[in-house]
Amino acid sequence: MATIAAEKPQFRTAPSAHEALKEHFEKHPDQRMSHPHKWDVSRSDIYAEDRWQPIFREMREAGPLHYIPESPFGPYWAVVQHKAIQHIEALPDLFSSSWEHGGITILERAEDIPEEERLELPMFIAMDRPKHTGQRRTVAPAFTPGEMKRMEADIRQRTGELLDSLPRGEVFDWVDKVSIELTTGMLALLFGFPWEDRRLLTLWSDWSGDTELASVRELDQLRRSFLHEMAAYFQMLWAERAQQDPQPDLISMMIHSEAMNQQSPEEFMGNLILLIVGGNDTTRNTMSGIIHGFDTFPDQRKLFEQNPELIPNAVQECIRFQTPLAHMRRTCTEDTEQFGQQIKKGDKVVLWYLSANRDEQVFENPDKLDITRENARRHLAFGYGIHRCVGARLAELQLRILLEEMHKRRMRVHVAGDVERVRANFVHGFRKLEVEITAF
Ligand code: HEM
Repeated sequence: MATIAAEKPQFRTAPSAHEALKEHFEKHPDQRMSHPHKWDVSRSDIYAEDRWQPIFREMREAGPLHYIPESPFGPYWAVVQHKAIQHIEALPDLFSSSWEHGGITILERAEDIPEEERLELPMFIAMDRPKHTGQRRTVAPAFTPGEMKRMEADIRQRTGELLDSLPRGEVFDWVDKVSIELTTGMLALLFGFPWEDRRLLTLWSDWSGDTELASVRELDQLRRSFLHEMAAYFQMLWAERAQQDPQPDLISMMIHSEAMNQQSPEEFMGNLILLIVGGNDTTRNTMSGIIHGFDTFPDQRKLFEQNPELIPNAVQECIRFQTPLAHMRRTCTEDTEQFGQQIKKGDKVVLWYLSANRDEQVFENPDKLDITRENARRHLAFGYGIHRCVGARLAELQLRILLEEMHKRRMRVHVAGDVERVRANFVHGFRKLEVEITAF
């Protein structure tokens, strides 16, 4: 392993991406886009205002994928039907995830970012075969059913303690007190991250900034600066752990495992950060989505309360319904014809999971939360194919335990105040969800 300075870096108190961009648009209101294309689903207002459903419905009715000639992120293909997303994800050589081609979100326009500003932290989510295969193999052992069993008691204990500490008869923000606390706490436990600094994980992995016009570059810079800070901190932890005997935390496991040791320090760091970023916003927003979903469909909350054996299926259905990552992006590597459309080499192809999970050709009455839905597992919220989420089992475990522990305590959670959604086209979730707890 390369030597890395063990000095604790100094952290500035950075504003979140959301706050910085809000400020930017207050100063430059003219830079918001005034006449977007009617099917430009990259507009973050439709997510902030929760009015994306009819737009995607119309698009699905019109066909599996559509070319959007103009958007703040340049032209792109919007893939909106379930079968089309599966089809494209099954062709990973033709539809690349690699950073060199443009990365995995609609945001990235590699050509817009000067070479010296590009982050040189390789992450396997933004790699193609064969490199992706080898790198993924190094972290997959941390997510086997055996590992999940080993972690279950710890997760259950922490979840139970947190639920017991919540105020009763008082309105509080579920996002802050539960969703963020449980997911960051869990990642801190998983990685042996210093407990007192755990909220840094929340700050660094906040990819949910406002993604509207003209901000692309700034948002990107801000995200990159977070990633640099995070890398510096983890280098310090890595240097510490490398000198100690093996511990049961994931950083120590990664340092001392044979397979991981074959990675370069940059790859090691990139993959570590990928695990933190991948596991944070996603699980957090599903934890908020469950509460909001049950409140919107009280008949389903009642079913859950009366039939705890439905919990595993409820987890799948809530993930489908929330779909905490709205899209992933690919870049076409050769001219090709798909579904009767000519896609050119270099075209940006955006896979809208949010739309696939409401596809009426697969899910009956898709805009209804139904915890008894027989095919809830067919959702594409974890993606499909070689990049399918490696942390899916851990996410499902955390969500199942949350529901089981709520049930054990006969907790009913009502929305009782402000609901604020994330203004972004990538992370799909809640900034604030004011609730009150009663009993059932
Ligand atoms: C990949 C969703 C939780 C780590 C992905 C992808 C999606 C996704 C959509 C890309 C799939 C594709 O391109 O086909 C989710 C959702 C989660 C969740 C909805 C929670 C409800 C987690 C957790 C971790 C994690 C808890 C780890 C602690 C990763 C990693 C990848 C990934 C490392 C890259 C896989 C690859 O490229 O081979 N996830 N994720 N995710 N996720 Fe998750």
